[in-house]
Amino acid sequence: MLLEGKSAVIYGGGGAVGGAVARAFAAQGARVYLAGRTLASLETVAGGIRSAGGTAHTSRVDALDEKAVDDHADFVAADAGSLDVYFNLISHGDVQGTPLAEMSLEDFERPVVTAVRTMFLTSRAAARHMIRQGSGVILMFGGYGDPLPRLGGLQVAFGALESLRRSLACELGPHGIRVVTLQTGGIPEVLPETFAGREAITAGIVGRTMLGRAATLADVGNVAAFAASEHARTITASAINITCGSVVD
Ligand SMILES: NC(=O)c1ccc[n+]([C@@H]2O[C@H](COP(=O)([O-])OP(=O)(O)OC[C@H]3O[C@@H](n4cnc5c(N)ncnc54)[C@H](OP(=O)(O)O)[C@@H]3O)[C@@H](O)[C@H]2O)c1
Repeated sequence: MLLEGKSAVIYGGGGAVGGAVARAFAAQGARVYLAGRTLASLETVAGGIRSAGGTAHTSRVDALDEKAVDDHADFVAADAGSLDVYFNLISHGDVQGTPLAEMSLEDFERPVVTAVRTMFLTSRAAARHMIRQGSGVILMFGGYGDPLPRLGGLQVAFGALESLRRSLACELGPHGIRVVTLQTGGIPEVLPETFAGREAITAGIVGRTMLGRAATLADVGNVAAFAASEHARTITASAINITCGSVVD
């Protein structure tokens, strides 16, 4: 298994993408630590992992709270003996569907401030332990492709995270720590079946790809497990393009 003996922290582990990544990591042998603000959703994911024979721990942690994030990293490092993989997959409160010219400052800046703050906090907490170990992998999700209309501050937030990814990779590489983004072009599977715009958005995502299909949650989990593993030991300071060809590198 790709992640046998590794510990992996997943912030937003009760969410759609975080849950899929947690399941994939656990299936590859990692001991997963799910963090989020709502224990019930974390426990649902953890329960599924345990039923499948994996090991999952849940913690109520606000990923914007500096002390809570540091304390959680300390707990995981002590509990697992090392802190090997860290993936922050929380939502950022972005508002989509409104043109920038009509958007309030509050709605625009929320995802930018949230994304940068939480990624800095969780990456810093992880890095302090990983530097001591001389190893570790920090993963990010989103990436930065060509602009699309009506995504509000979301792409600006992802652009800022890409800048942070480059700086972290540069500073942490000499300590044996890799920093990698999974660049997504959208995952139609997460759209609620009852959502009126589901079909049109799915058609838009698929229509922009070269492969004529979009990434599934299972696809994201599989690539994340690879990126976190020793099979990807040469990959850092980079984005792995999982857009099925909607973004051309
Ligand atoms: N789905 C896609 O197609 C797609 C595409 C591109 C990018 N993304 C990005 O991927 C990330 C995850 O997306 P998703 O679809 O999985 O979202 P989701 O299902 O809404 O899950 C997000 C999770 O983050 C948790 N969370 C939010 N704020 C938090 C905080 N301050 N502290 C701790 N946990 C927090 C939420 O749980 P609690 O509220 O209980 O804490 C929730 O479980 C988002 O940043 C999204 O922008 C998704």
